[in-house]
Amino acid sequence: MIDNNYNEKFRIFFKKFEKQYLIAKTNEEKSFLWDLVVEYIEKNRDFVMQYPIVQYWEKIKSSEYNKLEKIFFQEYCWSEVNLYFHIPFCKTRCTYCNFHIITWDKNKSLISHVYINKLLKEIDLFIKNVDDFKVKTIFIWWWTPSYLDENDLEYLLSTIQNKFQNNYDKNIEISFEWNPDSFNLEKLKILKKYNVNRLSFWVQTFNNDILKNINRTYTEKTVYEIIDLSKKIWFNNINIDMIYWLPWHNYELMKMDLDIVSKLDINHITYYPLYYYDEAILNKSNKKENNIKQIYNFYDEVVDILWENKFNQYWREYFCKWNNISNYQNNFVSNWLLYWFWHSAYSFNWKYAFKKDHNLNNYLSRMNNLIDFYKYDSENKNRRLFVLWSRNIKIEKSKLENIQNIDYIKKIIKICIELKLIKEFDNCYELSGKWLKYQEILAHMFV
Ligand SMILES: C[S@@+](CC[C@H](N)C(=O)[O-])C[C@H]1O[C@@H](n2cnc3c(N)ncnc32)[C@H](O)[C@@H]1O
Ligand code: SF4
Repeated sequence: MIDNNYNEKFRIFFKKFEKQYLIAKTNEEKSFLWDLVVEYIEKNRDFVMQYPIVQYWEKIKSSEYNKLEKIFFQEYCWSEVNLYFHIPFCKTRCTYCNFHIITWDKNKSLISHVYINKLLKEIDLFIKNVDDFKVKTIFIWWWTPSYLDENDLEYLLSTIQNKFQNNYDKNIEISFEWNPDSFNLEKLKILKKYNVNRLSFWVQTFNNDILKNINRTYTEKTVYEIIDLSKKIWFNNINIDMIYWLPWHNYELMKMDLDIVSKLDINHITYYPLYYYDEAILNKSNKKENNIKQIYNFYDEVVDILWENKFNQYWREYFCKWNNISNYQNNFVSNWLLYWFWHSAYSFNWKYAFKKDHNLNNYLSRMNNLIDFYKYDSENKNRRLFVLWSRNIKIEKSKLENIQNIDYIKKIIKICIELKLIKEFDNCYELSGKWLKYQEILAHMFV
């Protein structure tokens, strides 16, 4: 998930921007620099960029793990924690995808069983070291958890339930992600049995030809059917993920998708512009140049139309019915108190990062020291704090009081007020619609 060069590229770019911006004298010069930033980001951005970047971590020697393991875990406020379980297998590779996936082969159930057992080892490590915690959300996601067969699915969910249910918050949100083509009633009933109460479907587009072109193996009709069936079985907390600006997407087709999705009776929509990744098949076969102006025009239309249909925007890509902000989504983008059970993931507390082996085979074969621990310094801690704040819609002034490197944060806020990205009030700073639109740019502009 984390690509060091990727993050480093942004860091270098923004260092240059900051230097130029601070010496720019006229508004024209400043707005020219701003346009450059927008263009750079839109051509290069990823979903959610992270900070601190790995270069700034200091690896702790594995010989110290045993002695310090408990400390690493305990120096985290676990009072409310979000747990992410990741299943890294897919049936085939979609053409827009650059994720670190493993496509199923004939040993499917064998591999998935081994993988789930490894997750269980990590769960035990967590439980052994963290005495007191409340689980606010659980998320079972990414690549394709819905391809687990019924036995593996039951095995995974029952284990999560057995290990954690005594620590569930009373309003716990448990989400599960589906590729629509792996949906079936039996799996849906298993989810219900284990108290999953939020479903997320990766739809991307309702256009059957485009679905085929991106190597998805369901149709528009499948999506309507599974939403209906989910509701009948009582799941009414539903998200769907969409992508616009796919190579075959002209304005009319994007608008058709938007009209369909905005009228669906669901309570959450995630709407991304396509990111062209170098490694994705699409990039080689059907690359369409990013036209920043058109992408932003369509973004504005997404925001307006969803708003007219009673969806509030709370992050650049996230829209929820009324005030139903999904706990998961909100916590994920803010990367707040997350613990990832996944071979290629990392989690943070304010001092340490926890990282697994990125390589699946290494991860599976590692018997001891399942996690690597890293330290990072207070400057990076403050910068990380700013990134986290920037993913909210308000910053309380009182929260700035305990910051050590306050000049750095004040400098950023001053520039953002000048750029009309932030409005200052007596007790807080409110982040404007313009902020939401450029959120990730701003979050990383000064790191
Ligand atoms: C983290 S991905 C989960 C991937 C999921 N297995 C899928 O089938 O797309 C969540 C969402 O990100 C979006 N997404 C994935 N790759 C993308 C890309 N290259 N550009 C834009 N959005 C993308 C899709 O809407 C996807 O549903
Ligand atoms: S299902 Fe998702 S993770 Fe798997 S190949 Fe397709 S886009 Fe990538």
